[in-house]
Amino acid sequence: MVGREAKPRSVLQRSKRCPTAQQPRRGWETVLNVLRYRSRGKIPNQTPCRVPPPLHGRCREQRYTRGADWDSIAECAKIASPMPLFGNGDILSYEDADRAMQMGVSGIMIARGALIKPWLFTEMKEQRHWDISSSERFDILKDFTNYGLEHWGSDTQGVEKTRKFLLEWLSFLCRYIPVGLLEHLPQKINERPPYYVGRDYLETLMASQNVDDWIRIRSSRARCKARRADLSHDTLFIPGQS
Ligand SMILES: Cc1cc2nc3c(=O)[nH]c(=O)nc-3n(C[C@H](O)[C@H](O)[C@H](O)COP(=O)(O)O)c2cc1C
Repeated sequence: MVGREAKPRSVLQRSKRCPTAQQPRRGWETVLNVLRYRSRGKIPNQTPCRVPPPLHGRCREQRYTRGADWDSIAECAKIASPMPLFGNGDILSYEDADRAMQMGVSGIMIARGALIKPWLFTEMKEQRHWDISSSERFDILKDFTNYGLEHWGSDTQGVEKTRKFLLEWLSFLCRYIPVGLLEHLPQKINERPPYYVGRDYLETLMASQNVDDWIRIRSSRARCKARRADLSHDTLFIPGQS
């Protein structure tokens, strides 16, 4: 939908049929037009969408280089009302989430934040920063590995799949800067810290941007779980760009 002159009709008709969330990215003229048409009742869309559409506060061309534009999301939420609209972009702390919820949206969607800090939802619920230890983080990885092997199987194929997703995920997890090491809270999602030494070996390893270190973390986990599987060869891993 981004970068193209999407017809308001097609966007809303699709969201009417589809029970899952659609995500119009920021291409404000298009999005605002859709919402204006909708609010004037020009589109015969009387069936409410089962999942409110989340609005991504950036256009595709911007990738993640700029902050999400929450002022524009707020404007859209106002025009869309009473149709519920979810906002999306750059949420990594409970303060970010609280601020976002004050923009008049019905809810928020979190993507990278959930990968960088899977415990973010606990922080939001308990309104606190959690100075999680490296071993607690490792326990989350253990759970992920267990679920992966349970879901995909502990044969060679299942192990490979679990390892692939674990590596992909580690490329996000390493962006987390431990609360206890931060001078200013909260961490911002686009913050890229210089190399730092953690409070223990595992914390330092988890902060590494080096793929070899992610493989080291992953291998220690996968080896524990998949005793019978063939671990002699490795999948080629190319980190994502998100
Ligand atoms: C791993 C990953 C996969 C994503 N895949 C899609 C996708 O298929 N379609 C889409 O519209 N957005 C996708 N996104 C974008 C997110 O839904 C979200 O709009 C964006 O990351 C901004 O939110 P954030 O700041 O909370 O990450 C993806 C994001 C991530 C991190």
